[in-house]
Amino acid sequence: MTRERGIEYVQFIFADITGDLSRLEGLQQEGFDILAGRRVLMYLRDPAEVLRRLARWLRPGGLVVFEESDLTMVPGRTSSMAAHDQVMEWLRRMLTTEGANTAMGFGLPTTFIKAGLRFERIRAEAVIQGQGTQYPLAALLKLMQVRVISAGIATQEEVNSLVARLDAESQDPACVYVSDISFCAWGQKP
Ligand SMILES: C[S@@+](CC[C@H](N)C(=O)[O-])C[C@H]1O[C@@H](n2cnc3c(N)ncnc32)[C@H](O)[C@@H]1O
Repeated sequence: MTRERGIEYVQFIFADITGDLSRLEGLQQEGFDILAGRRVLMYLRDPAEVLRRLARWLRPGGLVVFEESDLTMVPGRTSSMAAHDQVMEWLRRMLTTEGANTAMGFGLPTTFIKAGLRFERIRAEAVIQGQGTQYPLAALLKLMQVRVISAGIATQEEVNSLVARLDAESQDPACVYVSDISFCAWGQKP
């Protein structure tokens, strides 16, 4: 698709960033201006080590920017939403069971520093569910149901019943809900 648009300098490389990075060997070391990712460090056992390895391809002074989800401060809401709370609890348990770090946002500065990078700033933005949301929580649960069920957190019947309750709850104009906080940290390679 990039070639069709005349963008010749973009290359996509499919690789496990915790494993063998030999596919990156052909790329010029210390040649890149930016190392960036979104919602990926939270899934890694040792994110600092991965950043340290990837920074090899970043030029000195190159920018490092990562955005990560964090559930430490959720749920955030003013009115009771039992079905939404239940889904958020299931998703939190599912992620934890799968080994994800649901507090990765708060962990970004330490991760940068442990990776030998210069940490500069961090910001956070609340992700809102409920009214006007692009991906209602019921849709998200349907996408995640295989993982929720295989983690032994809920049965298919429980998922189906909760989807119906979520839809009903979402009709309430007061259904405005912080589903996660998106942290963004940036810094540089020294
Ligand atoms: C929640 S998705 C985020 C996708 C995209 N960055 C975004 O923001 O929409 C998590 C992504 O991390 C990738 N991922 C997790 N562990 C990985 C690893 N060890 N190596 C490469 N990618 C990994 C998954 O393949 C998945 O695409």
